[in-house]
Amino acid sequence: HPKALLKTIQEDGDALVKLANQHIISCDQFDRQTILQLFRLASKYESNPKRFNTPLKGKILISAFYEPSTRTRLSFESAWHRLGGDIMSITDRSTTGIAKGESLADIGEMFNNYGDCVVLRESNEDSVKEMTSTLRIPIINAGNGTDEHPTQAMADLYTIFKWRPELLKDNPQKIRVGIVGLPNYMRTVRSLLKIFSLFPEIFEEVVIIHDKTDDDIFTEGQREQLEEAGLNLRLTNRLNKELPELDVVYINAIAWVGDDFESHGDKFVLNAQSPLKEDGIILHPLARGDELSTDLDETPHNWYFSQARGAVFLRMALLTCMVERTEMVMDVI
Ligand code: CP
Repeated sequence: HPKALLKTIQEDGDALVKLANQHIISCDQFDRQTILQLFRLASKYESNPKRFNTPLKGKILISAFYEPSTRTRLSFESAWHRLGGDIMSITDRSTTGIAKGESLADIGEMFNNYGDCVVLRESNEDSVKEMTSTLRIPIINAGNGTDEHPTQAMADLYTIFKWRPELLKDNPQKIRVGIVGLPNYMRTVRSLLKIFSLFPEIFEEVVIIHDKTDDDIFTEGQREQLEEAGLNLRLTNRLNKELPELDVVYINAIAWVGDDFESHGDKFVLNAQSPLKEDGIILHPLARGDELSTDLDETPHNWYFSQARGAVFLRMALLTCMVERTEMVMDVI
């Protein structure tokens, strides 16, 4: 699958040069050409997982996770290691200056002395902004509260294009995607919809599935912005009615967002008895809760493990462009 995607995307290296030394904060920063070139590089890495060079040799990643993570932290660290770099990792906020009231701005000032790139996860929406007020090395937002998780969304769309590379050809057969989750306070969904809006021509429609009132589903102006970009959005509270028509079901850990899973989420469960489209796939950013049954793991609907695996290569592509090219640009100067 990565090789098929690789063949589908024409190389345009210039699109990646602008990522050198950039902060990666939101999917708003990206255009479709940059995303496609990142996917091309990711699929190159994924096609040859044992044959990497080591462009990040001698470079240090500060992996600052002030909130729990399995996939994001370890896949970033795996990506950095595979590219030859070294890592300093924070996994417990109680052992850091934050526990003594130190500001993220002051911590950012210190990080400038210690490493070449920061990956930050923090539960506060303003955290990345606060740290970038002093940071002079690039930072990647690995989840800031309910706001965004841009590299998750990139990994999600990368998975969809690996599943159906022909979506990138002229006049593709459009897909219908269902998203179980809330764009107003789920960072994965927010970033995903933003990245979807760069490729509106591949979607028949995007169905938002949740039994909230419409007012609770989008932030102010969010729906209008997505529709102006060309996404055809529809809201429903009936998951099982939609499933037979959905090519992709993107489900989130509903229980994690204070959404009272017992009263709402039990209507939004996927298991081997769910009326999924025969060739439909399931994506989930993980970690999962009761909404995604393990009895689906051995079925062809399971693309969520591939989604997590692909994130390593997607992050390798991004890090290569952000950090390796920094040095190349500096050499030229
Ligand atoms: N998808 C994701 O963000 O998972 P983690 O919380 O394990 O990093």
